[in-house]
Amino acid sequence: MNLSKKPYKGCRDLFPPEKLRQDYLFQRMRQTAQLFHYQPYDGPLLEDIELYRAKSGEELIGEQVYDFIDRGQRHVAIRPEMTPSLARMIAQVHRELPKPIRWYSIPNLMRYERPQRGRLREHWQFNCDIFGAPAGEGELELLQLLIHLLESFGAGQEHFEIKINDRRLMENFFKQKLKINNEQTGQLYRFVDRYQKITHDQREQQLAAIQLSEEQKDLFNAFLEIKNFTELQLYFQNENELLVDIQQLMENLQSLNLAQYVEYDPFIVRGLDYYTGLVFEVFDKHPENRRALCGGGAYDNLLALFNEKPLNAVGFGLGDVTLKDFLLTHQLLDEKEIHKPPLLITFQDQIAHLYAKKICQAFRSNDQQCEFLMTPIKINKAFDYAQKKNIHFVVLIGQDEFNNAQFQIRNLEKRESSYFQLKEIKANLLEGL
Ligand code: HAM
Repeated sequence: MNLSKKPYKGCRDLFPPEKLRQDYLFQRMRQTAQLFHYQPYDGPLLEDIELYRAKSGEELIGEQVYDFIDRGQRHVAIRPEMTPSLARMIAQVHRELPKPIRWYSIPNLMRYERPQRGRLREHWQFNCDIFGAPAGEGELELLQLLIHLLESFGAGQEHFEIKINDRRLMENFFKQKLKINNEQTGQLYRFVDRYQKITHDQREQQLAAIQLSEEQKDLFNAFLEIKNFTELQLYFQNENELLVDIQQLMENLQSLNLAQYVEYDPFIVRGLDYYTGLVFEVFDKHPENRRALCGGGAYDNLLALFNEKPLNAVGFGLGDVTLKDFLLTHQLLDEKEIHKPPLLITFQDQIAHLYAKKICQAFRSNDQQCEFLMTPIKINKAFDYAQKKNIHFVVLIGQDEFNNAQFQIRNLEKRESSYFQLKEIKANLLEGL
């Protein structure tokens, strides 16, 4: 049999360099979540398909979910997103927990998509969600958390922007101004969500299928012309009560010096059906990478699936593929921090084998990462090996060092050697060499 060495379409084999980079991203995500005191959780890879049917939206359930009948005749799905599993878990415990509940997770998810830049069939997604926060507070905190994470990589206003909208505002516009029915509302949400991803002809076709009158079309097109929050205020100038929440959020962001990242955008409606309030997406500003890095929003009714009373919730998902593309595009990945080279321990004569092992052990006891070369090696070969692995410091133990109960540390960049004894090994010994 001649099996392919390639992974399944749209999935990645994460070889050590890529896995190290992914781990580095995860570490930053965890640090940020913990800084805001979010607690970790995880859930199963498989769920009952019904969990997604109700609220995850037509695209996810109709086109993207991987589902199958298991050996016990249950119809199951590989999780395409984490939020329904989270809601299921929260439904079990929320009554006993003090509010707000702040949880985070970094699950891998599967979606049957056409693989392309920023889109794969398997991706990992940093999820942060907050339940039971006072109105507007969860939204603000999650935007702060997101900005903190991106800033921690050195990203700023020139690199990314957060576009926001409010489903309540859209609902009002659809129902009160356009006066369309529920079915048309659903269709228009999907249309707006996909607007910037489809061609002019597809737009015309889809809009025709929604059967808006000429007057409705004009109103709708005029709404989509709104470019920012100031224009939104002008548009709704006689109905300010609709803008109270967004206005409050913008003011809070202003006083926290974060408003420069956030702008109103009527195209942000989100493809998932469960959102009920503020919705947002984070975009890379680089013209070649105009994908959303992250999407989220407020969803108050997901617990109703489990016969629970509504509990206000806000959350986001940030993809590892899109984050990596973003950071690489803007050269914000610090390779030195990701691939921290170890200290290479070598010995040149078999007699020093055990002594070298002791040195290695002493370094590790002092938290120094070490790689042990298990057989005697000539000095030049040791240097070649170190260079191939990007290692800067090498311990050398020849006859002389062994006889004097010493060892040599060679700094390959500076081409300098220093000599030590076993008992001199301490934490951070390499600093300053
Ligand atoms: P989503 O917009 O479907 O939201 O996904 C969030 C982010 O995950 C996207 O902005 C994108 O960066 C990344 N992502 C999604 N699909 C793929 C893919 N096929 N390949 C690579 N990256 C992808 C949700 O999933 C919501 N459940 C987020 C949420 C959490 N809302 C509330 N809490």
